[in-house]
Amino acid sequence: MKTKAIPKKPAKKKARALQQTPKQKLYASLVVQLRSLLNGEHDLIANAANFSALLFNSLPNVNWAGFYFLREDELVLGPFQGNPACVRIPMGKGVCGVAAQQCETIIVPNVHEFPGHIACDVASNSEIVVPLFDGERLLGVLDLDSPSIGRFDDQDAEGLNELVTVFVAHEEGLGI
Ligand code: SME
Repeated sequence: MKTKAIPKKPAKKKARALQQTPKQKLYASLVVQLRSLLNGEHDLIANAANFSALLFNSLPNVNWAGFYFLREDELVLGPFQGNPACVRIPMGKGVCGVAAQQCETIIVPNVHEFPGHIACDVASNSEIVVPLFDGERLLGVLDLDSPSIGRFDDQDAEGLNELVTVFVAHEEGLGI
């Protein structure tokens, strides 16, 4: 009788891939692309610029994607894609300042309902801000805006957190 060897690992991989939503698949592919962009390069500005360009050009319905880095006690604009933005955001102000102060990812379905939201682009209607940490130390935030109400959900939060973890691990020791 002919027998057929069943390759265990690929089958498991396939099963896991099938369970992923399209958005999770997109983020999984962005992790691979980000690792490839970072590979061999340790210039923070270059890497943050490429990271923001990757997000801006790969994620649908996004009109701003970029960084604010913590400088002393305020957030200062870093590499980004989108319209020119406000340069300095005090801790606790706007979505970015609140996310930085509370050290947590904030999803804002409608920015017009967020008290103290700082409008950099009138086209923005929803926003997600993900803090960047080196261990316990806050380095800054990644900020994404969308013209669509309710654009960002928990899968975006999870995917973006994984991406910033890859980014920070790569930049570790550069003194962001
Ligand atoms: N909306 C942000 C300000 C930064 S821009 O969106 C690029 C905030 O409220 O913190």
